[in-house]
Amino acid sequence: MTKELVAKSFESIEHTYSSGFLADYEHMRGDLARLYSLAKENQWDGEHHPDIDWSTDVDPEKPFFPHEQAAIYGTEHWNKMTVKEQHRFGHEYMAWTLSQFLHGEQGALLATCQITDSVPNIDAKLYGSTQVVDEARHVEVYDRYLHKNLEIVYPVNHELKTLLDQILTDSRWDMKYLGMQILVEGLALAAFQMIRDTVQEPLIREITRMVMKDESRHVAFGVLSLQDYYGQLTEPEVKERVEFTYEASRLMRDRLLGRDVYEKLGMDVEACVELERHNELSLKFRQILFSKIVPNVKKLGLLTPDLRRGFEELGVIEYEHLPSSDDELYQPGGGLEEFADNRDGKSDVRMAS
Ligand SMILES: [Fe+2]
Ligand SMILES: [Fe+2]
Repeated sequence: MTKELVAKSFESIEHTYSSGFLADYEHMRGDLARLYSLAKENQWDGEHHPDIDWSTDVDPEKPFFPHEQAAIYGTEHWNKMTVKEQHRFGHEYMAWTLSQFLHGEQGALLATCQITDSVPNIDAKLYGSTQVVDEARHVEVYDRYLHKNLEIVYPVNHELKTLLDQILTDSRWDMKYLGMQILVEGLALAAFQMIRDTVQEPLIREITRMVMKDESRHVAFGVLSLQDYYGQLTEPEVKERVEFTYEASRLMRDRLLGRDVYEKLGMDVEACVELERHNELSLKFRQILFSKIVPNVKKLGLLTPDLRRGFEELGVIEYEHLPSSDDELYQPGGGLEEFADNRDGKSDVRMAS
């Protein structure tokens, strides 16, 4: 690493938060301790895993998704492109999407370092350290796929960067959890699920499948760590978290528009963004992204009448009855199903104040 390289690519984000050094150690027990064991057992190596075959011949000219899924498909903007240009569009859009995953993963890496450092609970610190490693591996595999296989990397989208900065600069440990573990991770988990289930290129499907195995633990970590603590918040404290959740949800909905791609390809940016905003399939896609967020926010007691109205406005309230991510861990295939019968629904160890 040289001074020139640091000056060129390093952005310093100033923040203040308290590191939490714990004077005593509670016994390891409860959901968080089980989650820590599960995380240790399920570590994987993206470089050498048998399911991730880096020798796969990825042809960026072949569609990653059926063209019909593009928001501009069938419009004048689509029809005037040659077949080659349509393939290029698919390639660029995939690179843009995965670039946002990559930057989000780096944000998660930094946020999880901060959470591990600041959280006042030993079980959460131990579990958090496994997530730091998880996020490093996620950065590694997306970085490699983008640079080696797609050969295009887009910069971080403005709205995503705004949210990441907000999470990284907030001095309160619980706001880092709420922003990263519940909102960003929840959205990513739903997005990964859709990619895994619909993408036609096998290497990125396998990468995404492996990343998802970790992400479901990450969201559950947020719920398990916050649920007791959030039951003790005052009314103004709840109000502030509800407002943050609503604003972040709006930001995330808006960030999912591929403005940067239309700009790069010299297309009619405003017309294409507008099409994407209102296209039925894109709208449904953006709503499904909230399928993990809404039940988890509800589990934390943040689904107040105000937030309910906000989620109704965003068209996502229908997800409130889905299981929360911590409950999913105890369902068949969740990893902790063998403990389902003697679960008390809480992390036994309370957060130090
Ligand atoms: Fe991740
Ligand atoms: Fe994650």
